[in-house]
Amino acid sequence: MRYDFTSIIDRRGMDAIAVDGPGYGGWAPGGPKEGFDIIPMWVADMNFPTCPTIQEAIIERTKHPMFGYFDVRNEYYDSIIRWQSERHGMTDLTKKCIGYENGVLGGVVSALNAFACPGDAVLVHSPTYIGFTGSIEGAGYRIVLSPLKQDESGVWRMDYDDMDRKIKENHIHVAVFCNPHNPCGRVWTEEEIRDALEIYRRNEVIVIDDEIWSDIILGNHRHVPTQMVSEDARCRTVSLFAPSKTFNLAGLVGSYHIIYDAYLRDRVRSASAKSHYNAMNVLSMHV
Ligand SMILES: Cc1ncc(COP(=O)(O)O)c(C=O)c1O
Repeated sequence: MRYDFTSIIDRRGMDAIAVDGPGYGGWAPGGPKEGFDIIPMWVADMNFPTCPTIQEAIIERTKHPMFGYFDVRNEYYDSIIRWQSERHGMTDLTKKCIGYENGVLGGVVSALNAFACPGDAVLVHSPTYIGFTGSIEGAGYRIVLSPLKQDESGVWRMDYDDMDRKIKENHIHVAVFCNPHNPCGRVWTEEEIRDALEIYRRNEVIVIDDEIWSDIILGNHRHVPTQMVSEDARCRTVSLFAPSKTFNLAGLVGSYHIIYDAYLRDRVRSASAKSHYNAMNVLSMHV
């Protein structure tokens, strides 16, 4: 068996908040009624084991007993470049555009800090991933929602006029864009992304783009990276990725940004490096 998608693995006692944390943080659902099992679907990790080669690599590394400060190897960048090129056609990605992020949510807020001040309005689509709501408001920003609308076939669509109006009314210069969108699972088409980015361009809005779900695409849908829709999109977008959803590694955190534009890159890295909090370890922040 190459990949195991059928075994039911008992996660109890393994610190998994999905099964051991009913009521977790005051916002997770409570435990099941007496006589019922928990169905651990309230938090976005999976009940499948990770890819065996990932586990093997972790075990192999831990056989060496030293875990001191380290520098990021070229393999780290090479594997991201290969993945993005093979999976999403990002063929011109280079090492200098890639940077470590302590989680995608942390990356969203850290990037916001580079381009907005607490109290500023930020455009976000609704329905909104609860993590965005908590973190963006928690960091002191004011969320302005542009609701997605279902068309006559029930497909969720962006309302470009609403986005444009709210950006103007609220003097917004930073938006959080989720591609594919969570919740509701919309895989935006190239045309839709281009239209949204055109609104952002016309209003001089920097786009903080969460692509954490980009590897989990069903049916005939195709993920189009936001930065690939135009030269302008490439230069106004900070994109965030992670292997965490794809390979069930959320507990290991390691996420990353791709930023092509040198100005955006310097601003984001400068804002996150100040606290040292976003560094993979003390050395990696110099890469
Ligand atoms: C859209 C989206 N962004 C970010 C996250 C969280 O990412 P991380 O655990 O890397 O902070 C999630 C988790 O469900 C998510 O759905």
